Amino acid sequence: MQEKFYLTTAIDYVNGAPHIGHAYEKILSDVIIRHKRQLTDKAFMLTGTDEHGIKIQKTAAQRGISPKELCDENFSKFESAWKELEISYDKIIRTTDEQHKKTVKQIFNKLLENGDIYKHSYTGLYCAGCESFLSPKDLTEDGLCPNHLKKPEEITEENYFFRLTKYKDKIADYIKTHEEFIQPSFRVNELLNQLENIEDISVSRTRASVQWGIEVDGDNSQTIYVWIDALSNYITAIGYDINNPTEQFKELWPADVHVIGKDIIKFHSIYWIAILMSLGLPLPKTIFSHGWITIDQSKMSKSLGNVIAPKDVLKAFNLEKPDAFRYYMASAAPSGRDGNYSDEDFKEKVNANLANNIGNLLNRTLNMLVKYFDGEIKPEFITDKNNPIAIMAKNTKTQVIEAFNKYEVSEASALIVSFADAVNKYVTDNAPWTLAKDGKTEECARVLYNVLEAMRHIAIMLYPYCPNISTDILNQLSQKTDFKYTNLEWGGLKAGKITEKDKIKPVFLRLDSEFAADKKKG
Ligand code: ME8
Ligand code: MG
Repeated sequence: MQEKFYLTTAIDYVNGAPHIGHAYEKILSDVIIRHKRQLTDKAFMLTGTDEHGIKIQKTAAQRGISPKELCDENFSKFESAWKELEISYDKIIRTTDEQHKKTVKQIFNKLLENGDIYKHSYTGLYCAGCESFLSPKDLTEDGLCPNHLKKPEEITEENYFFRLTKYKDKIADYIKTHEEFIQPSFRVNELLNQLENIEDISVSRTRASVQWGIEVDGDNSQTIYVWIDALSNYITAIGYDINNPTEQFKELWPADVHVIGKDIIKFHSIYWIAILMSLGLPLPKTIFSHGWITIDQSKMSKSLGNVIAPKDVLKAFNLEKPDAFRYYMASAAPSGRDGNYSDEDFKEKVNANLANNIGNLLNRTLNMLVKYFDGEIKPEFITDKNNPIAIMAKNTKTQVIEAFNKYEVSEASALIVSFADAVNKYVTDNAPWTLAKDGKTEECARVLYNVLEAMRHIAIMLYPYCPNISTDILNQLSQKTDFKYTNLEWGGLKAGKITEKDKIKPVFLRLDSEFAADKKKG
């Protein structure tokens, strides 16, 4: 088993409020880290906000407030969204934190000292949305940025440049020889193609054009490029220092996974890797890029007016806990592929899987246990670990771990749900109510035990997605709420009285569609 696990998310630009695309990434990451915590005590999750750059400077200016005021206002929206979604990060970094700014200056100086940064006069097309220069061949036919559909600005400046070309072959080599580095692997070819055409990159802007950023140490005419600033968060947040890194840094670095969106792979797999090579630091084990979330099959955008905040969904469906939304988002797309959000689909999936498949199964079975056995499991009811349901539980556990090792978060949830499907079928096939009626008491009891013990397994495996529902399931089974994978041994549900009639409560209620639709309109 892995000793430690260090996961980072992208840090979000704070020029607006969080939407469900941002939430998607943080939920995926949180599900992964909660799963890892089930296996090791040393799992650490970092998230944060990206607060510098021309985009934030401009938005603040438009609003007539200072950039810091804008950052503070929006940072608190991100922070409270993550709280509402129960994102269990260990640290949240802001790139305006003093410690971060100090270390970024050090990093820049070190690259300069290494001869990897030089001054150069340059003319290029800058997209503020990307916070990046684009090459003319990246643009659409109309000369727009393909991601933001805006015309980039032509800029001529004397900037500092980073010798990316020096690291080109080493990076290509690393990608080709480390299978687990770029995940999903279907991204590798496009990345190698980008690498082919890579040039040295501008890593500063004149102070005159970008004031909202970290100054180059000893050259107050230049602002450090926002991506150098932003990428460094992964090491500054855990105590990197050129001369004296903290114990935490030594323990956690290199990252096990950087979770990011597909639009920023180049920055992570090329720029960041070259910076780390120049600093002489070990490289992250995996860069996992997820796809994008659309709304009713269209791209989310302010101009289309279809931007949905995570809190809007919880409110529209009157959800006190985030479990259903977390589950839905985490299962929204195959690993690395795009996914879609729609109210209809959300309702349908959580009703089918959480309310019917899992919630009802538990409820029905507990009611039968009360009716036929007074809510008690007798020692002789406990089934053998070689029975088909026990074997299925064990196989599901192994497959779930394997899926998570490949960052197949939605695939792992499908494995858990299909185990619950199989248990439902087992109940139908074995009809414990008929067994009870026919006086086949022992047989009936063993069927119920299998189902309840399967439910205990499901609760533990579902926990990273639905921490509250899983807690309720274990409470309904009178089990201690310990979600470590070491508890996934058949027979863990011990003999004893586990419930009575008035203790049985549904763990998840179906979403009432009409009510929800009305609420949303109002
Ligand atoms: O790129 N669906 O910030 P950002 C899924 N600050 N993911 C989405 C999404 C959507 N509709 N929209 C955005 C930045 N994301 C930089 C990152 S990291 C050192 C610096 C994802 O606010 C996006 O892919 O534009 C990215 O991973 C994250 O949200 C932040 O995007
Ligand atoms: Mg973006």
